[in-house]
Amino acid sequence: MAFNQKFLEELRQRIPIYTVIGRKIKLVRSGRFWKACCPFHGEKTPSFYVYEDHFHCYGCGIHGDVISFVMQSEGRTFNEAITELAALAGLEVPEQTPQDRQRIEKQHTLYDVMLAAQEYYCSALDMSAAKAGKHYLLERGIQKETFESFKLGWSGDGRGGLIHFLQKKGYSLDLIGEAGLLRKKTETEWSGELFFNRVIYPIHDCKGRPIAFGGRIIGDGQPKYLNSPETPLFSKRRILYGLNRLSSLFKRNKIDPLYNTVVVVEGYMDVIALYQAGFYGAVAPLGTALTKEQMKLLWRVTSEPVLCFDGDKAGYKAMLHAAEESLPILTPEHSLNFLPLPEGEDPDSFVKNNGSEAFLSLLSKKQSLCDALYGIISAHVDRNSPEQRAFLKTQLLSIAQKINDETLSKEYRRIFMDRFYQQFHSKNNQFRNNQYVNKNLLISIQKIDKIQVDYERICILFAILLKYPDLLFSVESAFFKLDLPNQFVNLRAAMLEIFLESESFEKRIKRLKEEGFADLIKEINNQSSIFIPQQESTKCDAHLVERHWWHFYGLLNIHELEFQVEQARKKWVQCPDEHHQNIFIARLKALNIAKTGSNTEQEDEIL
Ligand code: UTP
Ligand code: MN
Repeated sequence: MAFNQKFLEELRQRIPIYTVIGRKIKLVRSGRFWKACCPFHGEKTPSFYVYEDHFHCYGCGIHGDVISFVMQSEGRTFNEAITELAALAGLEVPEQTPQDRQRIEKQHTLYDVMLAAQEYYCSALDMSAAKAGKHYLLERGIQKETFESFKLGWSGDGRGGLIHFLQKKGYSLDLIGEAGLLRKKTETEWSGELFFNRVIYPIHDCKGRPIAFGGRIIGDGQPKYLNSPETPLFSKRRILYGLNRLSSLFKRNKIDPLYNTVVVVEGYMDVIALYQAGFYGAVAPLGTALTKEQMKLLWRVTSEPVLCFDGDKAGYKAMLHAAEESLPILTPEHSLNFLPLPEGEDPDSFVKNNGSEAFLSLLSKKQSLCDALYGIISAHVDRNSPEQRAFLKTQLLSIAQKINDETLSKEYRRIFMDRFYQQFHSKNNQFRNNQYVNKNLLISIQKIDKIQVDYERICILFAILLKYPDLLFSVESAFFKLDLPNQFVNLRAAMLEIFLESESFEKRIKRLKEEGFADLIKEINNQSSIFIPQQESTKCDAHLVERHWWHFYGLLNIHELEFQVEQARKKWVQCPDEHHQNIFIARLKALNIAKTGSNTEQEDEIL
């Protein structure tokens, strides 16, 4: 008896696998999984691991879900195991409707048709008519043993050979069509074979059954790859090329476990080339972006599959898309890693040009999702542009917010913000270069936009004065010599008037807001918030404040600052007290910094 998938899915979900296995053997929790000595082969140290939805023994390779555990450990049939588990879960074993039965029967026949088609294509590759196809594969460096391993084939000329072969086995034209092997003439009529004069790459489901085919044209033609349409067996969003090979991945003993990394690549040829280079964990989506369903399939096998797409714009976009797609479903146990390739390379060309050792060493430098996201998003940010920095910050926060797992979301936010501050506001110069930007991804760094930088400096000057209004009277003449955008000119005039009239800080700000400057003040505070803490500071050294004001001023108008230094020097000579000395020193220091660009104390967070 066959069961409907929905029921089986519910059964698997209702019964945590560790409870069933835990009844038989003693499980020890180890982080996000459980460990035990394998009940299927004698061992003294545990290599039997139980994950959320499956078990796997790294010793003997036995593998399965809760249903197959019951079958294998108790010697039950599938039906018996289902009956037992359904009772445990308190579920009724559903009666099958005739339609269910029909659908399942049909599916079974479709599997048979596809298997027969694979057989046809494979044997066609050995015929003399397949010379061009075989030559193509060998030319691309595919070894003969690999043909067998991937069941590579040749379509034939598409003039009815496959149809004839399948009909002789008793399959109807409709069934062959439903299996996706024919072109459609109308909704109900078929018009010949889909694949002709193409090299055939069978696509297998988890159990290794062929469910679709990809066909590559020889030479340059369009489309380069033709894939089977969606059928009752094949949904391209829910399968990956090479997926079936992952179940045996960990059985292979490799000197370096990195060879067993699950790597998501773009194309058929990448999967095959990596396999030949000794990397058995490569899989590829079928010409579409990586879907959530595909990620979930990968997470059954590994907690962090590595995405290694082509080193071009499309590959870069695909990477970013996958990263974004994964955010809502990330958990502490399930994430992604990234491996950007040098410009112009795909995994196939990379291993061919550089060898497997080189790919191995690249693999050891894979980036975590968190690092990669930070690197990609911050790559083009001009550190001197407040607008760009603010935008980056917003983007980072919104990415973290997209992660549904609360704990993880918080961690991402924390890491992003740590990096952001390290990179843009650190006293330590070593962090100023963005260490998270991968050079392969970096096409060009934007030129510093002087206008934006000046805009930020203007905002800072205003922000300091709004916060420490008394300073205005000391810097007034220079302040009024600044070339400013219109709205700032108006605010400057209003500030002078209001600061002269009203006494308290609050009153001054309130009046400025009443005069229509509320939005501009908000903008100024936003732009300068990174430099000037928003909360009310404790009493701050007036001379220090003044020096910093002059510092930013000097960056905008150095000639005026020179003049101001000279003025202050004269006043100090005339009136040699500490007050005038401090004023002079504040301006002189700011001038030195503006001139030399060197800054022994940071320009940034000071006030
Ligand atoms: P690529 O064009 O990068 O393929 O497309 P490739 O593997 O480098 O091609 P070769 O090396 O020239 O043979 C990557 C994948 O996108 C899908 C296929 O799955 C392909 O492997 N694709 C590409 C299509 O489905 N149709 C196409 O026309 C092209
Ligand atoms: Mn490619």
